[in-house]
Formats: sequence, C-alpha cells, structure tokens
Amino acid sequence: MIRRYTYGTPLPTDAVVKQLNTEPGAPDCLTVSKSTDGTVLSFPLPEEAMLFGLGEQLHGINKRGHLYRSWNSDDPQHTESKSSLYASHNLLLYAGPKRSFGLFVDDPGEVVWDLGYTRMDTAVITVAGGGFDLYVITPEENEGLPLTAMCREFRGLIGRSYVPPRWAMGYLQSRWGYASEEDLVTVARGHRDKHIPLDGICMDIDYMERFKDFTWNREAFPDLPGLCECLKTQHIRVIPIIDAGVKAEEGYDVFDEGEEKGFFCKREDGKDFVTAVWPGESRLPDFFRPDVRAWFGEKYHRLLDAGAEGFWNDMNEPALFYTPEGLRRAYETADALRGALTEYDSSFKLSGAFNALANSPEDYRSFYHTVGDRTVRHDRVHNLYGALMTKAAAEGFAAYRAEKRYLLFSRSSYIGAHRCGGIWMGDNCSWWSHILLHLKMLPSLNMAGFLYCGADLGGFTANTTEDLLERWLQLGVFTPLMRNHSAQHTREQEIYRFSIWEMMRGTLSVRYALIPYLYSELMLSALTDGLYFRPLAFDFPEDRTACHVEDQLMLGTQCMIAPVYEQNAVGRHVYLPCDMLMVRFRTAEDYDMEPIAQGHHWIELKLNEFLLFIRRGCFIPLARPAEYTEAVTTERLRLLGWLNPGEKSTLRFYEDDGVTTQVSLRENEREITIDVGGAVQCDGSVCDTAGLVR
Ligand code: GLC
Repeated sequence: MIRRYTYGTPLPTDAVVKQLNTEPGAPDCLTVSKSTDGTVLSFPLPEEAMLFGLGEQLHGINKRGHLYRSWNSDDPQHTESKSSLYASHNLLLYAGPKRSFGLFVDDPGEVVWDLGYTRMDTAVITVAGGGFDLYVITPEENEGLPLTAMCREFRGLIGRSYVPPRWAMGYLQSRWGYASEEDLVTVARGHRDKHIPLDGICMDIDYMERFKDFTWNREAFPDLPGLCECLKTQHIRVIPIIDAGVKAEEGYDVFDEGEEKGFFCKREDGKDFVTAVWPGESRLPDFFRPDVRAWFGEKYHRLLDAGAEGFWNDMNEPALFYTPEGLRRAYETADALRGALTEYDSSFKLSGAFNALANSPEDYRSFYHTVGDRTVRHDRVHNLYGALMTKAAAEGFAAYRAEKRYLLFSRSSYIGAHRCGGIWMGDNCSWWSHILLHLKMLPSLNMAGFLYCGADLGGFTANTTEDLLERWLQLGVFTPLMRNHSAQHTREQEIYRFSIWEMMRGTLSVRYALIPYLYSELMLSALTDGLYFRPLAFDFPEDRTACHVEDQLMLGTQCMIAPVYEQNAVGRHVYLPCDMLMVRFRTAEDYDMEPIAQGHHWIELKLNEFLLFIRRGCFIPLARPAEYTEAVTTERLRLLGWLNPGEKSTLRFYEDDGVTTQVSLRENEREITIDVGGAVQCDGSVCDTAGLVR
C-alpha cells in the first residue's frame, strides 16, 4: 500500500507514473514538523532497526549511522567523509522489530538524511524546499517478504525500469584518452587478437572537436561512419560520451541555435548563465523545457547516423568548474589577502577561495529554469537536471527509431530517469575499498529502479594493479553494466596489456557463458518490478546474521555472490543463509562445484578463482562462452544446480531478440523444468544436466 502526503506546493518531477490522491492528515510512522532548515520528518530508530535504500550513496548497505545529503555532486573523492555522490534517490526503507515501512521524498532540491548520526536512536530527514510529495509505503499482508514487496509496490509507482539492448550485457572497454580512429582500432585489435571478449568501446570527450557536443574531430576521425561500420562487423559497438555543457563558440551550430532560441539557462537578469566545463566557457541547456529536450535529443541523431548505438551522458549534475562571478569572488579574496598573509589561516583562505570555484552553492543559486509556467531557481530543482538530460536523450532515440533499443547510461540521476537509462557510479578510484563500495551500492540502486548499472572496473583515478583489476572483474561478471574505464594519465588498464591477461580473459568467459541467465534475470526484474540484486536481509529477514552481511548479495531468484575485495587475499569468509551449491569458477569451462551447508565458511580462493552460489533446489543455465554477445546462444545450455531429491525444480527463463523495444513477458518467457523423475523440459534448447547435483 502506498499513501501520498503533500506538503506545500510540489514542483513536478516526473518521478512517479501513478497519480495517487493526497491523503488528509499525517502518516502514522513519523512526526512532521517545521524548522528554519525546512520540513522535518523524524522517527525513532530502535536498536534492532535497519535502514536500506538511498540508491547511489556512500557507506553500508544498511544506511543506519551516518548523515547523507541528496545533492547531486561532481566529486571524484568517494571517501567516507562525503555525504553525496552524483545522484539523489530519495527512497528509504525502514525494517524495524515490529513494523516495516518505506518513504519516498519526491523533492528535487536538497534533502538531508540524518539516519542515527546526531542521535543513534533517531532518524531526522530535512527537506529544504517549500513543497514536496511524501509517499509512505507499507507492506501488504501475504505479499511475501516485506522489504521486497515494498520495493515492488514502489516500482509500480515509478514505472518500468529501462531495458538495454542485449549486447550491452557484453564487456565494454573505455578510457579517457582514446583520441583517434587508430586508438579505437588498437583497442579492438588488442581484444580480438587475443580472443578477449568485447562488445563495445566507449569514446570519451577526446573524440569531439574541442569538446563540442555532437561533433567529432574530423582529423582524428576522418571517417567515423566507416569506423563504426568496420567495428560493427567485428561485433563491437561505439558508445560516445555527451556532456551537459555546450561550448560557447560562435559558428558552432548547437551554441548558435541554443542562443537564438533562448534554450540555455538564464540568470535573474534574463542573460545567459555562463559557466565553464571541459570545453571552457559553456552554456547549460534548460532541460526542464520539453522543447529544449526535443532539440537536444534530436542532436544525438548525428552520431546515431554515424553508427553509434549507445551513449553515456556526463557532467550533468550539472558540474560547474567555475563561473565569471565565482572567479571574481576568488580574485577579490586574493586581492584582499595580497601582502597580508599574516594569520596562520591566511593561506588556507587564499587556496580555499580558489578551491571553492567548482560547483559552488552560490553559483547553483544564480540561475533559473522554466518549469511549466513557472521560473524556478536552480537549487530548488538541482537534483533533476541530470535526469532530464537522460530523458532528452531517450526521447531523442525514440524519435529516431522508436522500435530499437539503444544503450544509455548517465552519471547524474533522480528517480524517474530509471525509465530512460542506466547509470554508472562515476569517478571511483583504483582502491580495493571501492570494490566493496561498488557492491554495496548495487542493491540500493535496484531498489530505486536503476537495474542497468555498474562502476568503472579497475578504478577510474589512480593506477590500477593487475590483481585489483582481476578481482574487480570478478564482481563485474555479475553487474549488468560491465565496463572497464580509467582516467587519462593513469596506468593503461585494457586487459590485453597485463601479464595475467589470460586469467582475465578466463574471468570474462564466465560472464559470457552467464549472459543468457543474467539477461533473463535483468529482464525479469524489469518486467516484474523485481530486484536483480538484493541484500541478504531481504530474503532472510529472520536470520540476524544474514541481515547484517555487508559484502555478499543475492542475485536473481537463485543465486548469491561473494567476491574477494582485499589485496593478497587467499580466500574469504562467506555466510550461507541456506544450503547452497558453491560454484568456484576459473573460466566458463573450468570450474568445480560443491554442496555447502547453511552457516559460516572460510573458502580458499586463488587469484583466478571466484564464487557463485546457487540456492539448493534451484539451478541456472550456463551457455558456451563467446567473444561477443550475439555469438552466445541458448541452443545448448548446461544446467548447474543442487536439486532436492524427489522435488520438481523450475526456472523462469526470459529470452528475446535483445534489440526491439517491444518487450513482453507473455511472449518471451518460458520455463525450464526438471521433474521428479529427473527429466528436463526445456523448449528450444538442448540441456546438459551434467552440472546438476542431486
Ligand atoms: C568525468 C567522468 C569520467 C570521464 C571524464 C572525462 O570525470 O566521470 O568518466 O572520463 O569526465 O570526460
């Protein structure tokens, strides 16, 4: 059951697709009050209570004990002292000893979540803006596990998650620095020569002509359509980046048109808001206007015409490197301090003035959007900007070819954008702790509707190491978006460059063999409002140990993952909430299986080994691996599982063409059944049951 409560006059956010009537009165699970900081929602946190959700955020799967801020931020230091990342997903689930409930605060401005930070026994949520909708979710009796049931209800409210083309489940290679046709060809050849699987190459800003959106450097890419076509014959897709900021340069048609039509964000005096991002002086399209979205979305057609089949939208928090006003303020501080660095903190003031140039709160308060017939100051709707850029792109694709799925993932987002694209987790570091951070964010993102997501494998900033990349790939095997991406000037991290590339190739072979299963689980999650990744607490709420596991995840209906995320580890501790078949993979063809009983286990793991657990009574299909997704077929499947004697076991299995936007459970779902006598029924595939433990 979901109830809507309205405070003040909310702005439209497009987050929900079901219009609920506003309830009179107040919700019974929390106290609502006013403070100088905004509207305050508070509720007690008994000792046993757990909190889940908040999508892309730092800290644990259980969010209790920290302070979080919904304020989309371009901050490449994902450390424990931070309270925001690039996205705001205002869904929080409370699982207490006596009751469970969920809250969705539909406000695109700042929201502060003090979840047992100021006082361990109290949650205080402060919504800064003047009006918002609060949705309170309560689990219905007999709807199964309460946390999963609440997520399903919520997803019904916010609409169906984006589904990528099937090829986007393949391995993608990216790097900030691929600057020419030659660079892309080298990457393709590096993979294909060594038979390392690959389905796509991302082009970062270097492909553009001086960082201008929807252009490409004609010298470095003399024939982009020819290049895309050539790579496509090798089953490799090209995925360009698009940034939110449009370079201010007369003669550049996107800028000229935007100026002429008045499509860029304005300051209070009606003049364009001027900022700077990668292209230098830039303008920000006002994505809140449908006509601006249509205009910007149509620009993607140029690259689609050239053969691109996917995009990543970046810098859309929006990131502001500086503004002229910010520069003026910084120079004023510097001038005031000139010759007067007398106090111990004078130099901090000086450096602080310049460090504060980027993403300054003052700048975010100095421009406006047209929201319907209202003019709204940016900070009031800040967290929606990236989501609306994603929407512009998705609408652009639909206008181009409505029947075809395109890959789209964004850095910034808000709930609602989950219907248009996926997300990646931004500029992580080549740190071991970031493998774990990546794992912890996955289920929370799924709760908010973002199913197609992943982090930069190997780490974006800092230099990766061979073992770090290998262990990170072992987690990436299971994440829908599986992309290796790194920053310029860091150690190059394409698999083929490392001494252990054959080991990494073996790891990728497991991904490709699992694609039919992983794609099926992703599609089933999208089409049934389910969760592809879940905390163990969702499936085993009565098991206190399972509830507090922070480094393992349930995957799909049948599986659990427990990756290694520590350097030089020779194994790891795993907690099994029930009996499971442990599959220890080295490659798709080299693995061993062992039935393991519920409880605590220490599992030895060499660097090339990683684990997948399958619940007892279930099984999953494994296909023959290949070097690209189209070659992974379901003609022959090996079934892996541990069956209960005398019990029938069934797998819901979804398969479609992976390309068209018309997706239907009814037409594309089938069942693979192993009946009590041991016979397998599986239309359309030959099943090898040598992987079944009975
Ligand atoms: C941002 C993105 C990163 C990209 C870089 C250059 O930092 O998050 O992925 O490589 O910009 O475009």
